[in-house]
Amino acid sequence: MYEIITRHENETKALGKLLAEKLNKGDVITLDGDLGAGKTTFTKGLAEGLGVKRTVNSPTFTIIKEYEGESFPFYHMDVYRLENSDEDIGFDEYFNSDGVTVVEWATFIEEFLPDQLLKINISKEDESSRLFEISPMTSRLEKACEEIMNDYVSNRYFQPADDNRNSKI
Ligand SMILES: Nc1ncnc2c1ncn2[C@@H]1O[C@H](COP(=O)(O)OP(=O)(O)OP(=O)(O)O)[C@@H](O)[C@H]1O
Ligand SMILES: [Mg+2]
Repeated sequence: MYEIITRHENETKALGKLLAEKLNKGDVITLDGDLGAGKTTFTKGLAEGLGVKRTVNSPTFTIIKEYEGESFPFYHMDVYRLENSDEDIGFDEYFNSDGVTVVEWATFIEEFLPDQLLKINISKEDESSRLFEISPMTSRLEKACEEIMNDYVSNRYFQPADDNRNSKI
């Protein structure tokens, strides 16, 4: 697992954008974490990195929103409303597609998720700091995480962390 701390919503967006550079079509990223953790903020950065021009907002009332990225489609799901439901709304079509999919509150549809995921849990450290715990489930995604950590350490996007909490554990 990889740990990264962001200290401002712009750093969270930058992290999403950085991840987008490493993704391939068919990749599925799951986001879990409390209300206001930063799932949608991260998704906005990721979408920007994929070349989505339209504004990405939380799709809470539609569950799935589809966007056109530069190289492939981008699917944004927020399955919060499916807590306590076992309804399959055709998830496979998205997970087996030529697009990249991000799922907010993925834990609520655990039984429908594919094995080959990039799992991210976000927790609030304080008002403006967030801990990202990132678990890649394939060797390619693992390599992507290594690269992201290197970019972080080389301070390509972020201020250096003062507590050395950004780590692979
Ligand atoms: N480091 C940070 N990263 C991300 N967001 C931050 C950070 N610091 C403060 N924030 C604030 O936290 C909030 C995150 O909201 P966001 O909608 O992204 O959360 P969410 O996890 O999608 O919530 P929900 O479960 O309601 O969908 C925003 O108001 C943002 O400005
Ligand atoms: Mg959200």
